[in-house]
Amino acid sequence: MNNIPVVMIIFGGSGDLAHRKLYPALFNLYEQGLIRDNFAVIGTARRPWTHEYLREQVSDAIHETHKEVSENDVQAFVSHFYYQSHDVTNVEHYQALKELAQELDDRYSAQGNRIFYMAMAPRFFGTIATHINDQHLTSTGFNRIVVEKPFGRDLASAEKLNQQITASFAEDDIFRIDHYLGKEMVQNILPLRFTNPLIKNVWNSDNVKNIQVTLAERLGVEARGGYYETSGALRDMVQNHIFQIITLLAMPQPTDLTAKSIHQAKQELLDSLVMPTKEEIDQHFVRGQYLGSDTTFGYKQEPNVAEDSTTETFAAGQIKFQKGPVAGVPIYFRTGKEFREKESRIDIVLKHMSNPYGQAHSNNITIVIDPQMEIYITINGKKISTSGIRRENLDYTFAKSELAQVPDGYERLLHDVFVNDSTNFTHWSELKNYWKFIDLIEDAWHQDNQAGKKPVEYLPYRMGPKAADQIFDSATEHWIYD
Ligand code: BG6
Repeated sequence: MNNIPVVMIIFGGSGDLAHRKLYPALFNLYEQGLIRDNFAVIGTARRPWTHEYLREQVSDAIHETHKEVSENDVQAFVSHFYYQSHDVTNVEHYQALKELAQELDDRYSAQGNRIFYMAMAPRFFGTIATHINDQHLTSTGFNRIVVEKPFGRDLASAEKLNQQITASFAEDDIFRIDHYLGKEMVQNILPLRFTNPLIKNVWNSDNVKNIQVTLAERLGVEARGGYYETSGALRDMVQNHIFQIITLLAMPQPTDLTAKSIHQAKQELLDSLVMPTKEEIDQHFVRGQYLGSDTTFGYKQEPNVAEDSTTETFAAGQIKFQKGPVAGVPIYFRTGKEFREKESRIDIVLKHMSNPYGQAHSNNITIVIDPQMEIYITINGKKISTSGIRRENLDYTFAKSELAQVPDGYERLLHDVFVNDSTNFTHWSELKNYWKFIDLIEDAWHQDNQAGKKPVEYLPYRMGPKAADQIFDSATEHWIYD
């Protein structure tokens, strides 16, 4: 499908996300012809910018991310951009926005198609959604809305936001972004699981001992202390990215590859999500906070962070399902700031099998999502010239030229919004389950705070708190990535 007619309104058009991710991604889609002659983009934000100034910004964003581009293409592309200064609480501004959208719709023959993109501070999402509805900003063609994370900060606020959005948009037209679902190796999970008998036939409770998901980051919270204080690692990374990865790892095989079937299979799994008791949370969950070093601040010394903050910069825990191929298998996760290195990965640990050689290792299937993108399976073989057993990796890696072709997650996901494919977006029914679980953990940690039990502290640039090594069901389990 090419040259999709549409007027796109980006709330937060002067922001960092638009600059770093959305404008370069839109340009690539323009170069591919997906959007071409019949599209216009309205950037809105409080600042008093002009159309010309926005176009300069968009042009800069493209030059910053693309080494070689045709200046003619860039100029032709940015000529489709318009700026509307906008206070999200001011009704008149929505009227002005509506008029501009209509005018551009006529000028570009956009056929009444609209995409609304919420790319600004999440506290405004509800207000914008309400005004879109009250001021009738939707039009006569398709109307889609893209919502950045976080979608609420607990189940109650997520439900409220969802009501505000569904006043104008059907569930099928709501695209809740989780950028991890746009990553190549995350999109590789289902094909890997369902096209290989070698893998599919062992991907079950009989053979899998445990599953481990690690999303480790080298960076601290940097300038985002204010946001992070309202979030913490659990809401920032577990509620969305980690849960989505785990869902892909544990869901049953979908009947086909339509968005509907994939969401159905996910839902089947999530209906069986086990809600842990307070005792289980105490035993299998850990929260941590990074300390400072000679050259870096500890979390509590970061700008806009309370001196006595109990916000976690590290979270680890355990998730189980009652249904699906790995029903009952413990799925461990951990994520944190200021780890030894950036590494997003999944380890599937298979059970040991008795054998006449005694010393053989278990087989593990590892999927590295970032930064290097690879899959490897550890297997046993014979040591040369002795009868001992050696351990080797079977590797699935990508050539440099292939890596260069991997589109940015945002480009992929924006493409999907244009072609109306919601496979890699979070459905409301999934989100509801995630929040129920997260609320339970948050509540347990809140009780701990009141009882004077705080997050454990950990040294920066190592592997997070030692306490996270104790969350396993049995003494024979440990983190594969250490
Ligand atoms: C974001 C979080 O969703 O994901 C950030 O808000 C985090 O805190 C980021 O740094 C990690 O994403 P990636 O793609 O760099 O692993």
